Amino acid sequence: MNILYIGDIMGEPGREAVHLLLNEVKDEYAVDFVIAQAENVSHGVGMTPQHMVELQGYGVDAFTGGNHTYKKSGLHDLLKDDSSPVIGPANLPITPGKGYKYIDTPKGKVLIISILGTIFPLKDGESIENPLQKIDYILESQKGIKRTATIVIFHADWSSEKVVFGQYLDGRVTAVIGDHWHVPTADARILPKGTAHITDVGMTGALESCLGVRTDRIIPRWRDGVRNKNDLEDARPWQFNAVLVTSSSGTNATSIIHIHKVVE
Ligand SMILES: [Fe+2]
Ligand SMILES: [Fe+2]
Repeated sequence: MNILYIGDIMGEPGREAVHLLLNEVKDEYAVDFVIAQAENVSHGVGMTPQHMVELQGYGVDAFTGGNHTYKKSGLHDLLKDDSSPVIGPANLPITPGKGYKYIDTPKGKVLIISILGTIFPLKDGESIENPLQKIDYILESQKGIKRTATIVIFHADWSSEKVVFGQYLDGRVTAVIGDHWHVPTADARILPKGTAHITDVGMTGALESCLGVRTDRIIPRWRDGVRNKNDLEDARPWQFNAVLVTSSSGTNATSIIHIHKVVE
């Protein structure tokens, strides 16, 4: 089974990059099932149900979440609904839903778990449950439920935590895929016990930007301590970052490759 995971789709440029590239990527890699990180889909903050339908129209089958997911209240009922393919982080209690769902695919049922690592800084009202303890609890509760693959999305900041989370789950799930940085890492590999891992997939959206935000908004923050709001970059070129995880039957993955494309 070939599962494509698209890194943080950042605003309209991200949605348009998916629109322009996803069909071609699906053909090129014989993709069976597409998952995307949806925490930045609607102008960088969360995802509206309308934008979810838009992305489904471009070929995305399921959506995972991050630290921004709860901020669009229109999505809350869908996060709670087991028949809706949108999943928020399991261990950020302010986010509705259990944080994992089974999604039907042409090759069988896939369990997707969305979980948050340490995110710095936390906002008022946000607290994170320990992700290693939480993933143990979820996997134990789903023991014995037949599925084709188990995909864990680890949305986190600290490199040590992101690396060790993959090692902690090696041999227990099909893939542990990191995101949130918006910058891809060059470490995609199959771990010794057969789990596919990457520390960070990177983002999908404006390339000449700072993580999707206009660079001229960010430089004054770092240079002069200016407190300003994010303003998303819209201009092309746009980048598309994803990983393709291939698995046979059972838990293990057989390969993981990073895919990077640019729309000029
Ligand atoms: Fe993000
Ligand atoms: Fe994030």
